[in-house]
Formats: sequence, C-alpha cells, structure tokens
Amino acid sequence: MKSKILIIGACGQIGSELTHKLREIHGDDQVVASDISYTNLDIVNSGLFEILDAQDPTSLKVCIEKYEINTVYLMAAMLSATGEKFPMKAWDLNMSTLFNVLDLAKNGQIKKIFWPSSIAVFGPTTPKTETPQYTIMEPTTVYGITKQVGERWCEYYFNKYGVDVRSIRYPGIISWKTLPGGGTTDYAVDIYHKAIANNHYDCFLSENTELPMMYMEDAIKATVQIMEAPASSIKIRSSYNLSAISFTPKDMVASIKKHLKDFTIEYNPDFRQEIADSWPSSIDDQDARKDWNWKHQFSLDDITDNMLTNLTAKVSS
Ligand code: SER
Repeated sequence: MKSKILIIGACGQIGSELTHKLREIHGDDQVVASDISYTNLDIVNSGLFEILDAQDPTSLKVCIEKYEINTVYLMAAMLSATGEKFPMKAWDLNMSTLFNVLDLAKNGQIKKIFWPSSIAVFGPTTPKTETPQYTIMEPTTVYGITKQVGERWCEYYFNKYGVDVRSIRYPGIISWKTLPGGGTTDYAVDIYHKAIANNHYDCFLSENTELPMMYMEDAIKATVQIMEAPASSIKIRSSYNLSAISFTPKDMVASIKKHLKDFTIEYNPDFRQEIADSWPSSIDDQDARKDWNWKHQFSLDDITDNMLTNLTAKVSS
C-alpha cells in the first residue's frame, strides 16, 4: 500500500518523536520521514526515509507524487537563537518551505497540513501573563516574525483556497530522545544532560526568567489531537495558543535537587536573555481546550522524573 503522510524535518527534536507516533498510529508503510541529511539514524533506519530539501518545490512535488502523500507535517525550521545569527537564512527556510507546502495543497495535491507556530510570535508589547489568543503581536526575532507572518498566510490559504491547514503555538518543548537545536528554551533540556554528566549547569538565562514549557509527550498528543479533530471544530486557522506549565531556571533547580541534592547552577545570561524577556511567561489556551479538547498532563516534577530516569538509562546503555 502507498504511504500517505510526509514529515519534513523528521530528524529534529519534535519531528523524530512525531514520526514514531504517526507510524504507531497509521502503520510504517503510511508514514514517510524526510530531512535534509541523515542526522538521526534511529529515524533513517526505522522506516521509510527520504533525503528532501523542502525549499526546492520540485523535489518536494516529486516526493509527494512518489508516495501519494495527502498529509504533510512541516517540522523543519530555524529556531530563535540560530535565526538571530542568520536572519536571511531563517527567513528563507521558514517561509519558502511553508509556501511550497501551502501551494501543493492549494493545487489539490495534498489535503491536509500541520505547521507549527510558536510563543515566539509574541513580543515585548504583548501582555506577559496568561497571554490571550488574540492580542498585540510584535515579535522581535526573525524566527518570531516568520512564525507570525506564516500564521497570516495559513489563515489566508484557508479562507481563500480552502486549504486545511492546522497549527499550534508550541511553547518550549522538553524531551530526552533528540536534542533541540538553536532555540532559546533549549536550556530546559540541556540542564538535565548536564545535571547527569557534571551535577552542574551554566545557564544562559537568568534565574527568574519564566517561560511557557511542555513535555514532549504532551506536545505530540496535542499535535495528533488537532490533526485528528473534525475540520469543523478547528475554528482558528492561524494558530492556537497551547499551554501546559510555566517555570524559571530556579524552579528547575529546585525540582532537580529533589533527585540530585548536590546539583549546582551558575547564571551567565547571554544574547538569548533578551529573546526570552520578549516572550510571554504564561499562555491562555482556552480555545484549544474548548475546540479540540486539549489537556496537558505533565508537571515540572513529572518532567524531571522522566528526564533524569530516561537520560540516566541512555547514558549507561
Ligand atoms: N523553542 C523555540 C525557541 O526557543 C520557541 O518556539 O526558539
């Protein structure tokens, strides 16, 4: 049987776990993983995999036709911190891949798209706590600009061409299987790796920087849920606010110390502090909860438990 789902950016932090989940749900022969290089052998060797540069519309079209794809998860992007180092590359990558996928749907070649947005769409003039779905959005990072503009285009393609595109604004995502890359929220993953290796962490954000965060399992659940919901219940076609928990580096230290009592931390904020300071500290996601029954599960202590257990096992194996 021909495959039906394509994941672009399948070797990345979220893409890799999404690939496993979708294969579990739909079957290995229904899910094609793709990325620009073989960076995640677990994904490359565990099912259908294609090297694909989604910035090239022709290669993308060939892949879609080859496998008779009807649903695309576009997980490739340059994140906030790397985007500030390579602004035009971030703009080109994040926008061209989105247009390539949206246009395939506009032309009827694919039926459904998942495209992630981010808390980075918000900026320093946005209300900081319990940030509403509809509010001032003046992002100051290139990454945030691409996500905000992308949201407008998704809604536009839905309204004008009936493209079934669905999106959520991910908070910082914490996971142990695949490392994140180039984000401002990456500290919340790195801290667990360093806690196990050195019992110490040098943190690039200050101790009271509160950001919205989520455990990977919750993020994958939300992604699957919004894609499985009937089209009529997806009322927002730009992107949904999505929230689980909020915490600071200091809160993380307290949680880690419950397991590693001698754990120490030093705070040396760098350029990422300014990015973090421009983002909300908590998010109001009542629309997602109401429209497609979103509900998070993992608390900070649950995450710490899971992270330390799984990473310790991984290191010793
Ligand atoms: N995790 C992302 C970043 O830090 C935000 O979506 O860039």
